[in-house]
Amino acid sequence: MLKEVIATRFITPLREGGSLPGLVEADDFGTYVLKFRGAGQGRKTLVAEVVCGELARRLGFRMPRLVTVEVDPVLGLGEPEQQVQELLRASGGTNLGMDFLSGALGFDPLAFTVSPEEAGRILWFDALVNNVDRSWRNPNLLMWQGQLWLIDHGATMIWHHNWPGAEASSARPYDASDHALTPFGPDVAAAAAELAPLVTEDLLTEVTAEIPDAWLTDEPGFDTPDDLRRAYARPLLARAAVIHERIEGTK
Ligand SMILES: Nc1ncnc2c1ncn2[C@@H]1O[C@H](COP(=O)(O)OP(=O)(O)O)[C@@H](O)[C@H]1O
Ligand SMILES: [Mg+2]
Repeated sequence: MLKEVIATRFITPLREGGSLPGLVEADDFGTYVLKFRGAGQGRKTLVAEVVCGELARRLGFRMPRLVTVEVDPVLGLGEPEQQVQELLRASGGTNLGMDFLSGALGFDPLAFTVSPEEAGRILWFDALVNNVDRSWRNPNLLMWQGQLWLIDHGATMIWHHNWPGAEASSARPYDASDHALTPFGPDVAAAAAELAPLVTEDLLTEVTAEIPDAWLTDEPGFDTPDDLRRAYARPLLARAAVIHERIEGTK
């Protein structure tokens, strides 16, 4: 289970991305990037962050630790900005937090280089989860303490927005033509040989167990949170075996 903390202070909104995450302090004195449950795409974005973030970590990627953050809407009362106030008000209960990597730089494909091996691993992973948000315009990669860290897996697994069509949608290829690491000659074949065998049913059960029940209730077509957890695992298991042959736009 993810560690649970309680937000004690809203520090500031983070403006670079699209979803307006915030920086908060919590009752364990940690500083976290808060992803609001009440933001645009709602709780599915948070589920995607947990599934992909925890899978990435178990496959050996550097990924900031995730926690759940309890938010009391009264935190918003003192906020000068209406948008922040509204987000806090709409996000009472369980939200997602991520360790704040203080001093991290956004990855700039023109200023840093990445080995074909590492580029291949990240590209393969993004193809697996169908990440459409690692483009050279908006890489969602951070350089911290001299190494590359993955963040922002909210725009992945598009199939979870339409479960009846999930099997067909998840069988589709991955378009890597805009991917931030395509220019680095990613060795996808080596990455697939190393990583695909690690994506087992057991591993996916462990990963999906990390999703808080609160984000899995009342999904049409599913009786229990565990049914929905299995629906998250299934397409990833199927894709792991074949996706390296279905990556388009890398040549
Ligand atoms: N764990 C982190 N440590 C430091 N900075 C972060 C972290 N997570 C996000 N950021 C910063 O906040 C920005 C927005 O976060 P992101 O997760 O990409 O959300 P969005 O959905 O808004 O794109 C990032 O581009 C990055 O600059
Ligand atoms: Mg982002």
